[in-house]
Amino acid sequence: MAQSVKGMRDLFGAELRWFQHIEETARRVFGRHGYGEIRTPILEELDVFKRSVGESSDIVNKEMYQFTDKGGREVVMRPENTAGVVRAAIQHKLLSSNDPVLFYYIGQQFRYERMQTGRYRQFWQIGAESFGVASPESEAESLLMLYSFLKELGLKQLSFSINSVGTPESRPAFHAAIRAFFSERQEQFCGDCHRRIETNPLRVLDCKNEGCQAALAGHPVITDFLDEGSAKHHARLKELLTVLGIPFVEDPRLVRGLDYYTRTAFELLSSDLGAQSALLGGGRYDGLVKQLGGPEVPAFGWAIGLDRLALILQQVRGEAPATPPVLLIPLGERAATAALQLARSLWDAGIALQLETRGGALKKAMASANRMGIQTVLILGDGELDAGTVTVKHMATGEQESWPLTEVTARLGTA
Ligand code: HAM
Repeated sequence: MAQSVKGMRDLFGAELRWFQHIEETARRVFGRHGYGEIRTPILEELDVFKRSVGESSDIVNKEMYQFTDKGGREVVMRPENTAGVVRAAIQHKLLSSNDPVLFYYIGQQFRYERMQTGRYRQFWQIGAESFGVASPESEAESLLMLYSFLKELGLKQLSFSINSVGTPESRPAFHAAIRAFFSERQEQFCGDCHRRIETNPLRVLDCKNEGCQAALAGHPVITDFLDEGSAKHHARLKELLTVLGIPFVEDPRLVRGLDYYTRTAFELLSSDLGAQSALLGGGRYDGLVKQLGGPEVPAFGWAIGLDRLALILQQVRGEAPATPPVLLIPLGERAATAALQLARSLWDAGIALQLETRGGALKKAMASANRMGIQTVLILGDGELDAGTVTVKHMATGEQESWPLTEVTARLGTA
């Protein structure tokens, strides 16, 4: 029997219902903030990621689904969406005015990663990117939107970890400090870190190896090396988050796994996903548009793992409600005809319901209703038809009552 490719999942049932609920909530909340959707292709040229996510990152180094297409192009199944959105915005000249441009996206990403809870090789992200504004206020706006989104989904006890990674100009001083720190205890660091200290010293702070994390005790702190502008920016963002009541902690080791960040970087970890798993991450990336061939445009954004979010919601809120919650069961051929007509008038009135069309015994249909998590069963037999009624069974309590057929639409509509 053929199986799905390792790390790639089929989505259906309760899990997919959570996905849909999350997506609907995202569209509603982001729309309210003036963000418009963008959809970019899954395949991008290799260069798009090399020049953005960065050649020293694990994503580009180890995790990309990369191949040569039949026309000889080096292409990649996108490991993230920010670079593609920037590429699209430049290609279609969407950033040529001075106006802010606000995008969100919902889509699959691909990373060849080791499997664990909430980590897949095809996974989904919901993200938001804002272009054209360099201020801490724009970051507060974006984070507030993210916070409202998570709150509306019913998540509690959220706290962002934030840091500033400074600018390309302020970073060399920090690189020098971290290299000096490293060289004094280099034997305690892993092979990957020895490579990182050469190519991108910031990455050493992000190493997941426990030995390296221990060796990092007392390391130089990046926020001590910030230029004046970045320091002010960071202080102002913290002030705004405090005023808005958005909980955060400062994490000087937070550097993110992608190369394009400047100034603000942030993440949100969730203990529901096991150790070290991030639910979301993002930050400012003021140099990226220019780096990919566009004008000089500041930008800020984030992405949240939809698979991980659905997993958490399933844990904290249980099963997503079954839709539709009503099942209409006709008994006999005459009732089957009437049931189609009744269902049609209910559907036309905008009421969600499923219709049992298999015929057969009531017992079998009721067992299906139980398995599907149906809340209300409508039973229509000859007796009901003659009386002009429908029998209604409330599954949670087992109570049964009779409704006049003429009232079914109104009663279900207000249920
Ligand atoms: P990222 O931190 O690489 O950032 O990914 C964001 C989120 O995607 C993670 O926090 C996680 O929830 C989810 N994710 C990543 N890898 C996997 C995986 N293998 N399986 C399941 N979920 C995963 C970015 O991708 C940036 N583009 C975010 C951004 C947008 N920065 C600025 N704008």
